[in-house]
Amino acid sequence: MNDSAPIPGGDNVLVEFEDGIAWVYLNRPEKRNAMSVDLARDMNRVLDELELDDRCGVIVLSGKGKAFSAGMDLQGFFRNTDAVSDVERHRAYRETRAWQWRTLMHYAKPTIAMVHGYCFGGAFTPLICCDLAVTADDATYGLSEINWGIIPGGVVSKAIATVMGDREAMYYVMTGEKFDGVRAKELGLVNESVPADRLVERTRELAKVLLEKNPTVLRQARMAYKYSRYLDWEQAAEYLTAKGDQTTFVDTEKGRDKGMKQFLDEKTYKPGLGHYHRDAEAEQ
Ligand code: COA
Repeated sequence: MNDSAPIPGGDNVLVEFEDGIAWVYLNRPEKRNAMSVDLARDMNRVLDELELDDRCGVIVLSGKGKAFSAGMDLQGFFRNTDAVSDVERHRAYRETRAWQWRTLMHYAKPTIAMVHGYCFGGAFTPLICCDLAVTADDATYGLSEINWGIIPGGVVSKAIATVMGDREAMYYVMTGEKFDGVRAKELGLVNESVPADRLVERTRELAKVLLEKNPTVLRQARMAYKYSRYLDWEQAAEYLTAKGDQTTFVDTEKGRDKGMKQFLDEKTYKPGLGHYHRDAEAEQ
C-alpha cells in the first residue's frame, strides 16, 4: 500500500497515520462518541482495511472530543434497533459485536486503547478487547447501566470479568458508581494511568516499543496468550508447543535463529536486556 492510498474512514470514524501508528478515533464528539450501528459499520470497514495497510503497524483506539465513548448510543443503537425487524436487529448486533470484540480480540496487529474523558457502559468492551490500554488520570469511567434500568449487556459483563476481580466487578455493576483513571489502573482495566497532558505522548511511546518488535512473532505471542487462557494445562502445553513451531515456520525474519546466533555464537546481545538485531542476516 503506497503512502498516497486513500485513508480509511467514514462519517463516524477518523484515521490519522503517524510513522506506523494508526490513530483510530471514534468521531462523534457531539454525541460523546456514543456507539451507533452506523459507527459499527464504519469501524468494521476501517479495521478490515487497516489490517492490510502497511501504514498501520499498531492501532491506537481513541475518541475525538470530550470522551473516549459514552457507551452504546441510546438512540442510534437501542431505540433504533427496538424499532426494526428481528432480522435487522440481529444484523445490527452482529455488526456491533464484530468490531467491539471479535475483530479487536483477534486482530492481526497490536492495539492500544487510549482513554480520556468519559468511558461508560458498552465502551468497556472495545477498551478491554484492545491488547493494552492507557488512560488519563482524570478520565471518568462507569458501568452506568444499572442507573437507567438495564444490565451491563452486549458482552460487557463477560469482558469485565476477564480483567477485574469479582468483588470489584460486582461492586461497580451493582452500584453504577463512577471512578477515575487512577482507579481504573488499580482495577486492572488499563495498563497505566498518566496525567492528561502526558496521555498522547505516553501512548505514542508504548506504540513505538511495539513497532520495534518482530511483527510476526508479536502477533503469534498475542494470539498464543489469548487462546491458551481458555485451555487446561495439558492442552495449553501442546497448543503452545505447536504455536511456537508454527511461529518459527511463518516468521520470514527468522527471529529465533538470529536471536540464538547473536546470543550463543556472536555474543552480540543478551535477550534479557533488549531485542536482537532485526536487520542482521538470518542463519540459514
Ligand atoms: N447515547 C446517545 N446519545 C448520547 C449518549 C449515549 N450513550 N451519551 C451522550 N449522548 C448525547 C446526548 O444526548 C447529547 O445529545 P444532544 O446534544 O442531541 O442533546 C450529546 O450526546 C451530548 O451529551 P451531554 O449529556 O449533553 O454531554 P455532557 O458532556 O454534559 O455529559 C455524559 C456526558 C457522557 C456524562 C452524558 O452524556 C451521559 O451520561 N451519557 C450516557 C452515558 C451512559 O450511561 N452510557 C451507557 C450506555 S451503554
